[in-house]
Amino acid sequence: MTSSGAAQRRFVVLPDAKAVAAEAAARLISRIEANLRRPAICLTGGSGPKALYALLGSSGYHARIPWDRVHWFIGDERFVNEKDERNNMAVAKDIFLSRCAPAENIHPIPTNAADPDTAARLYENELQTFYGASRLDAARPLFDVVLMGLGPDGHTASLFPGAKALDETERWVVGVDHAHVEPFIPRVTLTLPALASSREMLFLATGEAKRDILSKVMTGADLPATRAHSNGDTVWLVDTAAQGG
Ligand code: 6PG
Repeated sequence: MTSSGAAQRRFVVLPDAKAVAAEAAARLISRIEANLRRPAICLTGGSGPKALYALLGSSGYHARIPWDRVHWFIGDERFVNEKDERNNMAVAKDIFLSRCAPAENIHPIPTNAADPDTAARLYENELQTFYGASRLDAARPLFDVVLMGLGPDGHTASLFPGAKALDETERWVVGVDHAHVEPFIPRVTLTLPALASSREMLFLATGEAKRDILSKVMTGADLPATRAHSNGDTVWLVDTAAQGG
């Protein structure tokens, strides 16, 4: 199924953050099981996905993932050293990837590049090599699952409101010189078309602090998180605290 954007979103309201992590893990594993070749998962930063990451590495789930075949990417990165605790891939590695996935299946954004734009071009190259083409084919998604978060200003990945990166149609990855929220460090982000090239985009939004911005997204306000969608399924996993129920 293909979609034309926000109209195709589906919101799933769950009791709490624990239930959101469990539902996300179940969906991710079923997408992995459906791809008998090289499943590609695009992770996200922030605090939202940490419970999910812990679950994926836990004894109950570990055996269900064919770690040697799954490849792990990141949708956006803070332009800090790969070992810095603010580095999104460093967080995912620390919680589960280093322990579970072969190093060659982990694809961090190279933040040791000269600047964010150079890092973006290098990562675009890496994604295109993995994909086997430099143009996205609607019939062949780049990712099986893309995880996304919701920032307080409605940003997602490092696509901030009003940024010109939102209008990018050619590049898969771009450098972002100024972040709108903490940490105020330059970023590198995948663009909307690259993120859309996915079988499923899963947004995770939990906790009362997300309530105001989530209600704007749900009513269709023009925000990056509203514009982001998959060409396959776009599913918002939210808890009752965030949804205001
Ligand atoms: C980042 C992110 C960002 C994040 C949101 C939500 O690098 O900061 O990838 O888009 O997902 O800001 O963050 P929280 O989950 O911490 O609220």
